[in-house]
Amino acid sequence: MEQYIIKGGHPLVGEVEIGGAKNAALAILAAAIMTDDTVLIDNIPDVNDVNVLLDAITGIGAKVHRVDRHTVKINGSGIRNYDVEYDYIKKIRASYYLLGALLGKYKRAEVALPGGCNIGSRPIDQHLKGFRALGADVDIEHGKVVAEAEKLVGRHVYFDVVTVGATINVMMAATMAEGITIMENVAKEPHVVDVANFLNSMGANIRGAGTDVIKIRGVHRLHGTEYSVIPDQIEAGTFMFAAAATKGDVTVLNVIPKHLEATIAKLTEIGCEVEEFDDAVRVVSKGDLTSTHVKTLPYPGFPTDMQPQIGVTLALCKGTSTITESIFENRFKYLDELARMGANIKVEGNSATIEGVEQFSGARVSAPDLRAGAALCIAGLATDGITIVDDIIYILRGYERFDEKLRSIGALMEQVSTEKEIQKFTLKVS
Ligand code: EPZ
Repeated sequence: MEQYIIKGGHPLVGEVEIGGAKNAALAILAAAIMTDDTVLIDNIPDVNDVNVLLDAITGIGAKVHRVDRHTVKINGSGIRNYDVEYDYIKKIRASYYLLGALLGKYKRAEVALPGGCNIGSRPIDQHLKGFRALGADVDIEHGKVVAEAEKLVGRHVYFDVVTVGATINVMMAATMAEGITIMENVAKEPHVVDVANFLNSMGANIRGAGTDVIKIRGVHRLHGTEYSVIPDQIEAGTFMFAAAATKGDVTVLNVIPKHLEATIAKLTEIGCEVEEFDDAVRVVSKGDLTSTHVKTLPYPGFPTDMQPQIGVTLALCKGTSTITESIFENRFKYLDELARMGANIKVEGNSATIEGVEQFSGARVSAPDLRAGAALCIAGLATDGITIVDDIIYILRGYERFDEKLRSIGALMEQVSTEKEIQKFTLKVS
């Protein structure tokens, strides 16, 4: 089993290049099949989730040419199969974006129902509500979503929950519906806007992405395009909190500071010095950080995907902090692991009360999910001792070259998989 071994206690110092946004790339790659022309997409992150989705897209008959690790050409003209195999959705939930893309273009799609995951049950009722509103017959047959329509007709869709996935999925289906679709109470995340911009570059007519109301005038066909994915605000924020927790001085490069406003606000509140540049942000911490309170919210609120990272940092801030997780029902599992490193935390329902401690102690911990795994690495980096993070397969799903980038700013950490490698690292750093 792959693990990270970390010798912490050293401030992270330096510059780190941020890659393309995983959650934008996954939706954009799915949307790329909506034209019979060739689409070139660059600045995609070379992470497991992206590679699995590209396999799924190949699996339904599209031509996928990986130009390099961050650039891909896709041509959907050869698609004859609208049934996405269960294996892919089991590996990554975001395969469900092929529902909206296939339904939009071919008026038919079959995709296995995604299960829940470690952070919550993750229903897709709002996705199905949107497809039905556009005129699709949507049934659940043998664990699959089967959606088909004679034609899709623009409608008024009001989402009961602000949901990134449903906003993007229904937006894709509506792109090639007849007439006008108005979507209300939509998600406003930067990656929602990125998908809308991508579709518009293919000839779609989508207005209002990033606001509460998206208006789509359906088109009959989409054409090829060349598109670059936005930087990953969550990867950037992860390195910014790593700087805070390790009393470091880190500059994240190739970012859009506006996408990081909530993160910058919280880092400033706890006492970090944050400097913004056109496409970079510098975070400096002298270590005397103080508590604050945070509630995760849809964008532009504090992102739920940054909750574990701020949780680890607050556990080292003087005073009592609270975190309220308002998006997912089970996103505090990592706090049990953090308590094993000496953190002082009490969880009640969707709220955690954190008493700051001076130091964690190194321990062997397990990553319960992608962002929590990255956060436990931050905890290990902040700790003067040896920490081993198990189950890093989760981290590899969403962070490209995570250990390499951390080593480039001073981390003593390696990816290992045997006791012998653990002993070798321990000897080297002792
Ligand atoms: C996306 O998941 C991201 N994943 C998640 O990032 C992120 O945490 C989440 O958005 C919120 O920002 C990708 O983009 C691949 P939602 P998604 O639909 O779209 C409820 C990561 O770490 N809901 O916005 O699945 C749902 O249960 C991952 O990169 C319904 O009730 O999230 C949740 O409580 C983790 N019905 C809330 O809405 C629905 O039909 C937000 O979910 C859909 C969602």
